[in-house]
Amino acid sequence: MTINGNNDGLSRRDLIINSGKAAAGAAILSIGALNAVKTADAYEYASTFKYEKLDPHEVGQVTYENYFKRWCTSSVIAGFVEALKKKVGSSWKDFPIDAYRWGHGGMAGWGALCGTMPGAGVIIGLVTKNTDTAEEMTNDLAFYYSYTELPDFEPSKIIKAQIKHMTIAGTPVCHISVGRWMRAEGVAFLTDQRAERCARLAANIAMETTKMLNAWVDGKYAPKHQPLYNVASNGITSQNNCKDCHGQYVPSPNKTYETLKK
Ligand code: HEC
Repeated sequence: MTINGNNDGLSRRDLIINSGKAAAGAAILSIGALNAVKTADAYEYASTFKYEKLDPHEVGQVTYENYFKRWCTSSVIAGFVEALKKKVGSSWKDFPIDAYRWGHGGMAGWGALCGTMPGAGVIIGLVTKNTDTAEEMTNDLAFYYSYTELPDFEPSKIIKAQIKHMTIAGTPVCHISVGRWMRAEGVAFLTDQRAERCARLAANIAMETTKMLNAWVDGKYAPKHQPLYNVASNGITSQNNCKDCHGQYVPSPNKTYETLKK
């Protein structure tokens, strides 16, 4: 298989950009996904944390309000924990929301994975109690994050600043995502506008997660994207925007993984 990010002569990035709307870009990636991949064997595990259906906008709003103190990872967690404390109680009452605050800024400001997704992943993992379900949801979340124009969350009252732009990150990486938005908006990192953007983005991720978990409670959650798509498609753990970093000369991983069925 060729591992240069090309698909019928067009890079995936071109496909995404040319597809215009974010959702369409993600759809193309999925349809273009190279056949089914057998995911790692799933297993169930115990957890005392229970989920009940929540209002996505309420979870988003609490996430948004928490952001300015707790930043991305813990604010997504707060959005769920505050709501579940009221609705379910029990284990949620003592949940240490700030135990995950270090995830902010792509882990303590290292600009790696956007902290909103590990925040959501903590909740997903605690409530679904199945390794594959958690993997499917976090995978869908990374697709949503990467290929949707964000943030489109509208706070009931703006806390820090008016902002004008939404951007498509093209990747779940904090540094690239925030950098593209900053360039579009014309602002620096330590500004009220940038904080406002990340707060709204955190709210969007919390809302999308709420929708997935609500569907799951009803037995209606079906993954939108192929789990381990990136590994199978690219021959390496990856995020599809190869050329952003490698330019025209994307290296080919020299091994495929026999444990993955193609
Ligand atoms: C966020 C930036 C970034 C993205 C996106 C990215 N890479 Fe890389 N990749 C790197 C860096 C940096 C290295 C290390 C290069 C080095 O040491 O010379 C690397 C190394 C590699 C290597 C091993 C080194 C080599 O030269 O063989 C492979 C293979 C590779 N990347 C493939 C890919 C593929 C395929 C994609 C897209 C599916 C991708 N990369 C996307 C940054 C990135």
